[in-house]
Amino acid sequence: MIALGCDHGGFALMQVIKSHLEELGLEYRDFGTYSAESCDYPVYAEAAARAVASGECDRGILVCGTGIGISMAANKVKGIRAALCSDCFSAEMTRRHNDANMLALGARVLGDGLALKIVDTFLTTGFDGGRHQRRIDLISAIENAE
Ligand code: RB5
Repeated sequence: MIALGCDHGGFALMQVIKSHLEELGLEYRDFGTYSAESCDYPVYAEAAARAVASGECDRGILVCGTGIGISMAANKVKGIRAALCSDCFSAEMTRRHNDANMLALGARVLGDGLALKIVDTFLTTGFDGGRHQRRIDLISAIENAE
């Protein structure tokens, strides 16, 4: 199950992503927003991120205008590693090395075609483990020291 969250800046691209996931037969849960009306991205970032952190959803995809605000907000939720990606190389490496559990995209940065390629890369790439797990554990240690 994939958690989805966006604001008004990401709403149109999120509709394209939802159609794509449906074509691939992938299940998602849409945490909003549900229209192009102006809204506050932290609300939707938090809802989708909590679903991933709790295990209700395996992965998450977030979209706002730049992808920056929504990724910042999601990364405040314990256990979330949200990666803002604007290219397929970063999407691949953040899965392989950072075990990113959420992908953030900037709808005002990317064309739809590239955004979908980044989504596909994120969803199909596994975590390398090994020395990278130690680094993920160190990220968790920072979080746990708060
Ligand atoms: C909304 O105008 C815009 O600020 C938001 O979508 C996002 O880009 C914030 O980081």
